[in-house]
Amino acid sequence: MIQPSGPLRGTVAVGGAKNDVLPIMAACLLTEETSVIEGVPQVSDVLMMADILRELGVAVELNGPQLTITPGRYSGTTATYDLVSKMRASVCVLGPLLAKQGEAQVSIPGGCVIGPRPIDLHLKGLQALGAAISSEHGYVVAAGLLHGARVHLAGAHGSSVLATGNVMMAATLAEGTTVIEQAACEPEVADLVAFLCAMGARVEGAGTPVIRIDGVRQLHGARHQIIPDRIEAGTLMLAGAVTHGEVVIDGARADHVAALSEKLREAGVEVDVLDGAIRVRAPRRLSAVDVTTLPYPGFPTDLQAPIMALLATAQGVSVLTEKIYPERFMHVAELNRMGASIAREGASAIVKGVPRLSGVPVTAPDLRAAAALVLAALAADHQTELSGLEHLDRGYQHLEEQLRQLGAVLERVEIPSARQAEGVPGWS
Ligand code: EPU
Repeated sequence: MIQPSGPLRGTVAVGGAKNDVLPIMAACLLTEETSVIEGVPQVSDVLMMADILRELGVAVELNGPQLTITPGRYSGTTATYDLVSKMRASVCVLGPLLAKQGEAQVSIPGGCVIGPRPIDLHLKGLQALGAAISSEHGYVVAAGLLHGARVHLAGAHGSSVLATGNVMMAATLAEGTTVIEQAACEPEVADLVAFLCAMGARVEGAGTPVIRIDGVRQLHGARHQIIPDRIEAGTLMLAGAVTHGEVVIDGARADHVAALSEKLREAGVEVDVLDGAIRVRAPRRLSAVDVTTLPYPGFPTDLQAPIMALLATAQGVSVLTEKIYPERFMHVAELNRMGASIAREGASAIVKGVPRLSGVPVTAPDLRAAAALVLAALAADHQTELSGLEHLDRGYQHLEEQLRQLGAVLERVEIPSARQAEGVPGWS
């Protein structure tokens, strides 16, 4: 159970970003040499990516927050269905494998609970670099010697972080110059550029929509520090706001959470940028605000569910519109079970603020929805039993300890009930 905990107060440190480390692990496939990555969050998606690399014949050692990856002369070229089906981000081994080994077979990622997530942009980009791509028995099969090209990577909903990463990684070892237009500008893409440059790649334009890569013959190992997780930082900012507390998030990058800070201020939260930290204070009931998710530097889709939990109890009507994943609203039904008043209209959710939510048993349908339900539970008037924590564990390493440090009362237990599928731990 997560107990109604009153205003959260204190300081917590933010961990390394899951969405930064996953493509960086894949980038290690571009060299035979050892790379050392620091500040790695211990989340299940990282363990999954480690298994994918091991399956390819790569040595991976995880020592607390330090990851050591030694590819050597690995011979694998296939990422199998068993692993890819569990984590869509594993598709980002496609570009590095193709560039280093000359061929790659990656299981086609299936449907995803947050809606359709095509990989056409990944394939289009790699084809432009000269790869022959086919689909065989549920696998993308890519082969060929790569050369530089001009590639436009815009999809129906804008840019794609992992497609940009895949094409960029492949281009580092291609012959000649590649220019990616409509590249994703997310901080994780910019940090992947930093890692590739540390490996000896020649890449310019990090953090802008045009990235230029001059191919080199080979890359070497590198040492790299993972950037702070802006979604975890945002979740903790929202935890401070939803409980009307005062919370300092140490290590949060103000520039990376600017879109959230702007919306929180609009809602009546005091957000102060300190030296290397962000402070959030919310003394009063908040006001409704409209939020539209967009590629960076717009409001992140990964905080759409968490901010909905906050707006569920704000004064007035908020409209939340999803421009990245128009189907990413599974949390609406669970928040409504807690007493929220939220109606889905196409790619928008209309949130009528209610004075308070009430604690009931709820089940997390996906990672960010799980975070949203934790936030809602902190502000509810009764204890909440949250199941489906395996989703939370994919992307948050310490959320429960962090919240406890701020004064929240919550505990993780095995619940021996029929409601609890196959021993999945719940917070009780
Ligand atoms: N898209 C296409 N074609 C493609 C690829 C993407 O049209 O080939 C579209 C998608 O339909 C979507 C948009 O582009 O509208 C971006 O989606 P995509 O699936 O490419 O996102 P991603 O790069 O695979 C990363 C994060 C996601 C985050 C999105 C958006 C990682 C490992 N994952 O995914 O994180 O939501 O960017 O910011 O970096 C999460 O952490 O909970 C999560 C889902």
